[in-house]
Amino acid sequence: MPAELTSAPVSERETHSTTGRCPIDHHPYAVQKTARTSEPVGVPILRDAEGVWHVRGHEEARAILRSPDTKQSGFKAELIERLPRAMNLPILYQEGKPHQQQRKQTARFFTPKAVSANYRRLMETLSDQFVADLQSARRADLSRLSLALAVRVAAEIIGLTNSRRPGMEKRLAVFFAMEPGDLSWRPSALLRYLRGQTQIAAFYLLDVRPAIKARRRQPREDVISHLIAQGYRDSEILTECVTYGAAGMITTREFISVATWHLLEQPALRARYLVAPEAERHAMLEEILRLEPVVGHLYRRATADLQIESNGGQVTIAEGDLIDVHIYAVNADEAVVGEQPLALCPGRELHADRVAPSVMGFGDGQHRCPGSYVAIQETDIFLRLLLALDGLRIECAPTLSWNELVTGYELRDFMLALD
Ligand code: HEM
Repeated sequence: MPAELTSAPVSERETHSTTGRCPIDHHPYAVQKTARTSEPVGVPILRDAEGVWHVRGHEEARAILRSPDTKQSGFKAELIERLPRAMNLPILYQEGKPHQQQRKQTARFFTPKAVSANYRRLMETLSDQFVADLQSARRADLSRLSLALAVRVAAEIIGLTNSRRPGMEKRLAVFFAMEPGDLSWRPSALLRYLRGQTQIAAFYLLDVRPAIKARRRQPREDVISHLIAQGYRDSEILTECVTYGAAGMITTREFISVATWHLLEQPALRARYLVAPEAERHAMLEEILRLEPVVGHLYRRATADLQIESNGGQVTIAEGDLIDVHIYAVNADEAVVGEQPLALCPGRELHADRVAPSVMGFGDGQHRCPGSYVAIQETDIFLRLLLALDGLRIECAPTLSWNELVTGYELRDFMLALD
């Protein structure tokens, strides 16, 4: 390999295009950490014996996620379908015109300008506080710090800022830990279900209702005020808050941990990160998300027959079929990301039009994550402070488990220490 992974800017190193192959001498740690299974290569789209379509090719995934003829089928969509028809659905489960309108009206909370103007100060204050706490305690569990940071920032955007008691993150965490198939008459499943219901009731009474009350008196620039103005009922605002909680809080929490893990294990990458300009740092973080997508699968159901181009031919997905988009595989499609797709390689050249460095780490099409800039900026602000600490090291690498709701990894008990 022609060049080491150095702290030189990516632009000054040889790139894929000058050498025809990856310019980085990959550090032994610079490989994927979180994948649950190894994905087959060269099978961009396949229908299994149960009739479920498995999509692993980038081109095929893009066509499906951008098609107007699909609907959301992940994130407990089967529970949402049991809600009364007249109810306003959370944004993640809306389709067509109502979804477009909702995205348009809430886009103002998520533009880079709005995020920097409205939430940057909070991100900095919280990061300062967490890093100072770590300095005085000399050790900390990063999985707790990342949860607290992600919850506080998302709560500000949503408008969950009038809680009657601390501990909102715990109330949400218990609910999200419920398995999607938990609704059964088995005693253990029932107990878990009731516990989840109790937590959701507590979340409503202690966090959501006081926030709604305060905003009915005086609207603010946040999601709850927007929903009140749209005439949403309290129960509808609650389900939207739960959706944002899952979409914005638990995802960002895991991402902060996985990014820290990679950067702490690779001193040259950490050194480069600390001196790199913002755009390069953000691209580095997105490359980590490409390799370690927090949402591992996106599910859709075809609402009409879909014609998908694949390998120069056409595949027909019939109306009503379930589609499983395997994000780990899509993000490692060599046709787009080049060679060594399972290695961390910031600055890799991408071979497709208008593709983000995280490829589909934030999804694609109509439902693509509106909070991507929030997540990247928040992680960056925290990591610049954290990684600058002299003597910071991993005391105990995190345990890895799987969350069925977001179909993604969970990193827990991630102990950091200061020498
Ligand atoms: C690293 C952190 C994050 C990751 C990996 C992530 C990932 C994703 C993905 C993959 C989707 C698409 C779901 C689909 O197509 O079915 C999505 C949607 C969404 N995300 Fe994020 N997200 C993150 C952070 C955030 C943040 C910070 C917020 C808000 C505060 C947020 C709010 C949302 C919302 C509201 C949706 C639904 C959009 C829609 O259906 O139109 N996300 N996210």
